[in-house]
Amino acid sequence: MTIEPSPGLKGAGAILTIDLGAVATNYRLLREKAAPAECAAVVKADAYGLGMAEVAPALWTAGARRFFVAHLEEAIRLREILAQASIGVLNGLMPGCEDEYRRRGLIPVLNHLGGIEQWREAARAAGTPLSAYVHLDTGMNRLGLGPKETDRLAGSPDLLEGIEVAAWMSHLVSAEEPEASVNEAQRQRFIDALARLPKAKASLANSSGIFLGPGFHFDIARPGCALYGINPAPYGRNPMATTVRLDGHILQVRSIDRPSTVGYGATRQVAKGAKIATIAVGYADGYQRRLSDVGRVWLGDHPAPVVGRVSMDLMTVDVTGLPDSVAHAGATAEIMGPRRTPDEVAEEAGTIGYEILTSLGRRYARRYVGGSPSAEMREP
Ligand SMILES: Cc1ncc(COP(=O)(O)O)c(C=O)c1O
Repeated sequence: MTIEPSPGLKGAGAILTIDLGAVATNYRLLREKAAPAECAAVVKADAYGLGMAEVAPALWTAGARRFFVAHLEEAIRLREILAQASIGVLNGLMPGCEDEYRRRGLIPVLNHLGGIEQWREAARAAGTPLSAYVHLDTGMNRLGLGPKETDRLAGSPDLLEGIEVAAWMSHLVSAEEPEASVNEAQRQRFIDALARLPKAKASLANSSGIFLGPGFHFDIARPGCALYGINPAPYGRNPMATTVRLDGHILQVRSIDRPSTVGYGATRQVAKGAKIATIAVGYADGYQRRLSDVGRVWLGDHPAPVVGRVSMDLMTVDVTGLPDSVAHAGATAEIMGPRRTPDEVAEEAGTIGYEILTSLGRRYARRYVGGSPSAEMREP
């Protein structure tokens, strides 16, 4: 991805460029890998921080027809964006919200027998069958019918009266670790349950699950993170395209004229003759404080290590020896992008790329490139 910051965005502390073309490319790669299974798209948490209003239409244009979000509110928003899409709501059916689902054609993921009963009642009251996913817990112990509830459902399929099962689904615990024995254990539990339940489509694989091989694909794959460039197979080279780039504006460059320290807490010594650039990105923008003193940003082709504490609105980098042509007030530094991916930033911060993306700040000027004609460029 070669994206030059647009001159029109100079007033912002930082410019977040989101490459919708890369999202579409990632979708197509996952779809190919999952085929002949259908490839859905998980766009919860505002499309993992990238912006559902822009990302969902790009995925639709790339061929995605089945989407998943976590919350009802997200589903309502997505319905306004994509009138024709199939929309599943992972967190399930909140009591009293049945009408909302029905009116807007949203498909709840039923995570327990109580939810099944609620939806069955809603179907009865509506006098028409209603569609739902049914989530079977095969090892996560988080959401979904546990083994006893699954047994009960298998023994009394009439509990599903009026419910059209869009798919039986389950969720993998450790798909990014192909050696973990829990993957095969979950797959077997899922197969065993499917054999005892009424026939319908089945869905198990998240992004990493797609890379565990065809035995994990079933009928519908449900990738999220890989659409957005996170490595679904971290035991090897990342097959996904980078989708985000964050360019922070340099506010000041100062020369240190005597041995000193930089930033809060005086955590970092700097020698006489050092040069420090201050960039308008801080932890209030999602650039975590735990990234203090770690990693490096890029000024042109020059790396510049982060020095001192990250503060609320600012971070500081060491630009000693770098040419003024790149290290000057008004220039930008690549904080995240092809040369410092969200996965790398996550590793430096002791977290995962998901958290880095979903924490992307609201103060950034967002710029969408490579999109479908319907996606708008949103400039400040
Ligand atoms: C039930 C379910 N399916 C699919 C996904 C997508 O997973 P990933 O982002 O790892 O591809 C998630 C994400 O958390 C999920 O909770």
